[in-house]
Amino acid sequence: MRLFVALEIPADARHQAAELARSLSPELPKARWVRGEHLHGTLIFLGEVETARVDSLTLALRGACAVALPLALVLRHGGTFPPRRPARVAWLGLEGVSLDALTRLRELVSRLSVAAAGAVGFVPETRPFHPHVTLARPAPPWPHAAAERFALAAERSFGEPFEVESVTLMESELGPGGARYRQVERFPLGAVA
Ligand code: 2AM
Repeated sequence: MRLFVALEIPADARHQAAELARSLSPELPKARWVRGEHLHGTLIFLGEVETARVDSLTLALRGACAVALPLALVLRHGGTFPPRRPARVAWLGLEGVSLDALTRLRELVSRLSVAAAGAVGFVPETRPFHPHVTLARPAPPWPHAAAERFALAAERSFGEPFEVESVTLMESELGPGGARYRQVERFPLGAVA
């Protein structure tokens, strides 16, 4: 199974992000825009995991989440990856409501990474974690002007700040019509705090 751990985005923020996509897409070059209901923040991407190992993975991730501290985020501002190069991903930012919140989110990602490393040999990312929600995948990559247009239009908040109460283990099935996502398990944060 192709798995990743995601943060769910509340409906009001997803709707406002989808509204931006609807208004902006006609004036930007071609891209695959992520459907509103699919918008999520990826915390760790596990890739292919044998079905037989999913139970031990689940147990480890549940434990990592149980000791996590509560945190609040807001979907706000945007940009493109990779920086200063033609844009392959257009994203909206997940910002901490306080400095604490961002630290707690980073702590959560590192706990999840350690848990997944122990359970299924996950190799943690070496790139710094940049909390975001992918809104579009430009193909071919957008030139600088389009990337700037996107970032300018995203200079605002999308929905209200929200408390992260759980994270979700998701399965992604790749198919001709794009990826299909299925929720495998949900883990509450701070269950033993
Ligand atoms: P993205 O949103 O930042 O593009 C499901 O495919 C999720 O896993 C996507 O949201 C994507 O994150 C992330 N993902 C897919 N392939 C990945 C890879 N090779 N490395 C890291 N993250 C990946």
